[in-house]
Amino acid sequence: MSDTIESLLDENREYIASDHFQENAQYQDESIYETASRDRLAFWEKKASDLAWFKKWNSVLEWSRPYAKWFDGGQLNASVNCLDVHLESRKNKTAIIWEGELGEVRSFTYESLAKQVNKLAYTMRQTFGVKKGDRVTLYMPMIPELAISVLACARIGAIHSVVFGGFSADSLRDRIEDSQSKLLITADGGYRRGEIVPLKDITDSALSKGCPSLESVLVVSHVGREARIHMTEGRDYDYHDSIADAPHVCEPEKMESEDTLFILYTSGTTGKPKGIKHSTGGYLTHAKYSTRAVFDLNDDDIYWCTADIGWITGHTYLVYGPLANGATVVMYEGSPDYPDKDRFWSIIDRHNVSIFYTAPTAIRAFMKWGDEFITKHDLSSLRLLGTVGEPINPEAWIWYHDVIGGGNCPVVDTWWQTETGGIMITNLPGLNVMKPGKAGLPLPGISAAVLDQNGQPVTHGGGLLSLTEPWPSMLRGVWGDDQRYIDTYWSKFNTYFAGDGATIDEDGYYMVLGRVDDVLNVAGHRIGTMEVESALVEHKSVAEAAVVGMPDDIKGQSILAFVILKTGQHDTPELHAELIQQVCDSIGPIAKPRAIVCASDLPKTRSGKIMRRILRNIAENKEVGDTTTLGNPAVVAEIVVSFKATFQAAL
Ligand code: WT7
Repeated sequence: MSDTIESLLDENREYIASDHFQENAQYQDESIYETASRDRLAFWEKKASDLAWFKKWNSVLEWSRPYAKWFDGGQLNASVNCLDVHLESRKNKTAIIWEGELGEVRSFTYESLAKQVNKLAYTMRQTFGVKKGDRVTLYMPMIPELAISVLACARIGAIHSVVFGGFSADSLRDRIEDSQSKLLITADGGYRRGEIVPLKDITDSALSKGCPSLESVLVVSHVGREARIHMTEGRDYDYHDSIADAPHVCEPEKMESEDTLFILYTSGTTGKPKGIKHSTGGYLTHAKYSTRAVFDLNDDDIYWCTADIGWITGHTYLVYGPLANGATVVMYEGSPDYPDKDRFWSIIDRHNVSIFYTAPTAIRAFMKWGDEFITKHDLSSLRLLGTVGEPINPEAWIWYHDVIGGGNCPVVDTWWQTETGGIMITNLPGLNVMKPGKAGLPLPGISAAVLDQNGQPVTHGGGLLSLTEPWPSMLRGVWGDDQRYIDTYWSKFNTYFAGDGATIDEDGYYMVLGRVDDVLNVAGHRIGTMEVESALVEHKSVAEAAVVGMPDDIKGQSILAFVILKTGQHDTPELHAELIQQVCDSIGPIAKPRAIVCASDLPKTRSGKIMRRILRNIAENKEVGDTTTLGNPAVVAEIVVSFKATFQAAL
């Protein structure tokens, strides 16, 4: 197998969708690129017209760098666009096919989904007093009630803040406090690889140390722990009991196009995650358009995006985008290797999934697990594959295309971010040639560039990725921190700075190389090195910590922590375990360091700044590089020895 892959790579092979795919594709005419760039605003105005509006906008775009207003003056509701608009033609069409980790299946038609959303929306508004603009935190497993809660918030104009169920109590509390949420929806627990994640217990722990804004907690009974969870009188209510008698109709709030639809916290270069703000009209316009264009969505597709709703991918490409298009969506609760490593393929086979969207990390794990888990299932229903979250190496791309796609499904490698709201760079599957490892072209309507350090566009080769014109689903700021919005995204260049390095080739194809800041990408999850460092120094034995990414065959990167212990503390395996636990408690298991390397000092400049470049080189097994600017060059040799010893021990 690897021989063939190498020879394919040598040829720099390009791929194209089959004639059949091209002839039936949603977008077949190359002129869409030209049309969109000739009059971008007219293009977006047309896309906005695909939504249902209570009131039409006055202007398409008002841009006063770095603040955009899209479709200002227009009024709409996102839940109406995901539900009500389908109730005539698609009332009995399946909206969500949900599969639990234990194997149970629950399906919702557009009509039954709308009913559940309306009941919850009514209850939140009438019983719990949630009003337009109030924040609601959702800390839930991947169950239908999560999608329902998202849409119910949208219905009454409450701003949802979904916190991924893998985050710890401390992380949850920080996000509730930062957003000043009034209501929280959680569950008694969720299943993960056969184990129960006790979400309500974690919630209790988060709330025990603060969160005065929070008035009520709704708890979905999902794993049968009702008897073991603690319900605080006057604060905690059972979700299903609370909505049981609510009417099936809840008047949707008329939202201004620019009203905030949701905030979603993501990691940056400081110790504190930022709440990325998204609008209603612009966000939904792009969500609807990009889902249809990139995934070539048709009415009879069965569409499965494996992302958790706790991440932006789940927001845009599991909930809003596909439902706005009236699609049938598969939602799966658990992990890909439970009860066995063929779970995804059995889901595709069982539900006849035709469009499958997942992450390179998962693809690399499937490759490693071996083809035997795949060949025992019929994957012939698939017609399009997508990837997101991190760069995909050509080997994994080709394997995905050949083995999962059977050689006849186009693969869309989609580059975007929490901040961009939707896909920015990828191929249109029926139109463009695919080059493994390269995301491709900016979507029609999107303008991008690779810039050099001076902000000048590079026509061939590498530089920094920038989006050069405002787009409808762009972030509208950082919740409660305008300065951070400006500093992070708008101070490097005149145009939006994405934080990624990229190259552009002679055909204008982008290849995204990864972050150029202190943000790691571990298994497609974004983790700030500062957050992990702050967690480590909270431990009583730690004086200082520096965290860098280490190459990882499956996860892309894993976390390596260099630590200076306080005087009198000893470097023991027990301490390493405690430090790793400290990070899990403070952030969550997704930020678990792969290893801890203790040293007497860290490489620092004379002014005391940690030289991470040197640590990164050590972690990547590269030459250490120039140490002449260090105030303490001698420490480097000690760290290298300690690093090697750690990895010998780990092997
Ligand atoms: C960062 C954004 C967008 C949803 C999932 C992650 C990296 C994302 C790709 C891709 C290379 C990619 C970038 C980006 N990234 N997609 N197709 N090729 N890199 O969202 O947590 O906001 O992370 O993920 O580094 O900046 P996120």
